[in-house]
This record gives sequence, structure tokens and C-alpha cells, in this order.
Amino acid sequence: MNIREITSGIYYTGVNDRVTDKFEGMWPLPHGVSYNAYLVRGSKSTALMDTVEITEVHEYLDAVERTLQGAAPDYLVVHHMEPDHSGSIPEVVRRWPDLKIVGNAQTVGMIKGFYHVDDDSRFVTVKDGDIIDMGDMTMLFRLTPMVHWPETMMTYVAERGVLFSGDAFGCFGALNGGLIDTELDTTVYRDEMYRYYSNIVGKYGRFVQQAMQKLSGVTPEYICTTHGPVWHEKIAEVMGIYDRLSRYEGEDGVTIIYGSMYGNTAEVAEEIARGLAEAGVKKIKIHNASHSDMSYMISDAFRYKGLIVGSATYSMTLFPPVKALLTALQVREVKNKVFAGFGSYTWAANVVKKEMEDFCTAAGLEMQGFVMMKQGIDEDVRNAARALAAEVAAKLNS
Ligand SMILES: Cc1cc2nc3c(=O)[nH]c(=O)nc-3n(C[C@H](O)[C@H](O)[C@H](O)COP(=O)(O)O)c2cc1C
Ligand SMILES: [Fe+2]
Ligand SMILES: [Fe+2]
Repeated sequence: MNIREITSGIYYTGVNDRVTDKFEGMWPLPHGVSYNAYLVRGSKSTALMDTVEITEVHEYLDAVERTLQGAAPDYLVVHHMEPDHSGSIPEVVRRWPDLKIVGNAQTVGMIKGFYHVDDDSRFVTVKDGDIIDMGDMTMLFRLTPMVHWPETMMTYVAERGVLFSGDAFGCFGALNGGLIDTELDTTVYRDEMYRYYSNIVGKYGRFVQQAMQKLSGVTPEYICTTHGPVWHEKIAEVMGIYDRLSRYEGEDGVTIIYGSMYGNTAEVAEEIARGLAEAGVKKIKIHNASHSDMSYMISDAFRYKGLIVGSATYSMTLFPPVKALLTALQVREVKNKVFAGFGSYTWAANVVKKEMEDFCTAAGLEMQGFVMMKQGIDEDVRNAARALAAEVAAKLNS
């Protein structure tokens, strides 16, 4: 169990989940995930900042009670209603009958809908910019809709320089003893941040940008997110990652994703990769769409500037795992990519190219080049693949 003072009067009461295989039923958790919750103990009043997934409720309540040592909390601030944070609200409400739930108008509607807490006297409804005075500390509420649901908000405690940011700046990865970035190796969390952002928040880039604008006057000492480490010395780096990803600004490098049943399309992928390497591209990620989990393909597609997708023709359409990937990228409004495609067929020469062109039109991407192969690879296809690689590499450097 984690109980820790982060800075004067601000405590961690979150939990680790090393049991759940897939977050939201879809996204693998090889390093687990933390559901972070906090406690703000002012001289006049005390607030719980979010709860945790219901599966971890006992550990959470234990952490709160050990931190409070017999005192009752006055408020529960709800930054986000996704059940990974709101799941324990009914238990908190039952345990502390005088506690007020702080949220905006949309939060209140969702609590009633999900958890049937219908007594209006239990809610304090806040608007953007409202403040609650806790004595030696104040909580300033900023509404940040769609980071990641419409009710999402953040709280800033100016006296301590602490921003409670909800899912923003969060990442997968349970906390292995260390809580603040100063006391742990952040390598795994940085990689998991790309995956968390692209998988979970990726669709809402413009709302992340709006939230960052709103925060531009705030210079927090600590960012307390709902997943992953508390950010302190790495705030600039973490904000930079979220800023770049939400502007769909890719890093140098190319992701190649292909779908192949019998290996022919895969050979074209290998040829393109070799061509990219010869053109000086060092970061090349290759995913066989039948083998890689969607989560990692989406993450790399977001992360790197170049994206090359290939597919065998399958029953007069794209190979299904590739089709699913393109749909996922479209849902997330992926843009600003140097995009190229390749494909293979035996009797329908135009299907893959046409479907990739349709994807590009829908996504607002320009197709830099396309290589189509009939059946097996030959010298002409190899040359075309190298030429495509050279074109993509040149475009990346331009
Ligand atoms: C189950 C299956 C369905 C296919 N459907 C089509 C099709 O509808 N149109 C077509 O031109 N080729 C079709 N093909 C042929 C493949 O697209 C073509 O042989 C390609 O080279 C296979 O590439 P791969 O070795 O990377 O799987 C199909 C092949 C299989 C095995
Ligand atoms: Fe969420
Ligand atoms: Fe979350």
C-alpha cells in the first residue's frame, strides 16, 4: 500500500494494478498500471482527489484512512468519471455520509447515471475558475473537456504548486516503489506514455492543446496525474511529449506495418526497410499486423513521422488486421505523416491501392508513393520498393 506525502499536506493514496491484462478491455498492460488518487489536507478542510477502480477499493480506503488517522474528509474532487477513477465513489459516499462531491455539471450528471447518487445536497457543482478555500491551501478548478471525457477537469493548488491533471500527462506502468520521478528510472514510463497517449487520449489532440493553452500561465512544481509517476523534475519533458503528440508532430523515423498471409507482402516490407536504412533512416519500426498488438502499432504510428502501410489483397479488400489498424488511425485523426503504401494481389490489381487512397483522403494524408506486386517479389518490385523508400526518406529530410 502506498501512502506518501508528496509535498506539505498533499498525500498519495493510489494503488497499483498488476492483475488486469488489458486496460479498457483492449490495451495490454505488460508493466501494470497505477490508479493514482491523492489527499489534500488543508488547515480548514480535507479533500480526496479521485478514487480508484472498484477492484482496488479496499486498498484505496485503507490508504485514505491510514493517512487521515480517524478524521473524515470534507470533499471528494472528481476530475474524471471513467470507472478506473470513479469506480470507488459509491463506497466513499457510503463511508463518509457528510462528504461533498465536487465536480462540474457534467460530472454530477454522470455520477447520478453511473452510481445513482441522487441526493443533490451531496454535490458542490463548480465552474471553470471556481475556487474552494481549504485554509492554508486553495483548490482552483479548470475545466478541460475531452481530456479524456467531456466532464474532465483539473485542480491547481497554487500554494503548493501542485496540478492534479487527471489522465493528462499520464502513462501505463505500475509504480515499483518510487512515486515521484526523482526517485525512479523513468525509461519504461516514457515509452508507456506514447502508448497511453496514442491509445487512450489520441483522438482528442485539439482538446489537449486547448487544455495546455489554459495551463500556460501555470508553472507547477508537481504534476499529479491519475496514472504513472508524479512528475517533478521531468515536467518540461513530459509536457513536451504531450504537446508534440497532440499536435501530431512525429519524431524522425518510420513505422512500417504490413499484413501478409504467406510472406510475399512481408518481403516487400523488408525491401522497403532496407532501402530506408540505406537512405540513412535509423529509427525503423516494423510490425507484422498479424503478430503485433494494435496498441503498439498505433503507438509507433503516432510517434514517428513516416508511416508506410502494406497489405495483401484478401477477399477483395485489405487484409483484416491492416484494415482494423487503418480504422483505428482514422478514429484518432492521425495527420502530418509522410505516408506511403504497398500491396500484393493475384487477381484484383487495384483493391489495396484504392482502399489506401480512400484512407488517405479520409485522414487528410497525401500518399507519397505506392508499390503494387502481383504474387511473388521480383527485381522490378525490389527496385520499386527501394525507390519508394528513397522518396519517403527524402521527404522526411525536406
Ligand atoms: C484467403 C485469401 C484470400 C485472397 N483474396 C484475394 C482477392 O480477393 N483478390 C486478389 O487479387 N488476391 C487475393 N488473394 C491473393 C493474395 O492477395 C496474393 O496471393 C498475395 O500475393 C498474398 O500475399 P502474402 O503472401 O503476403 O499473403 C487471396 C489470398 C488468400 C490466401
Ligand atoms: Fe480516462
Ligand atoms: Fe484514466
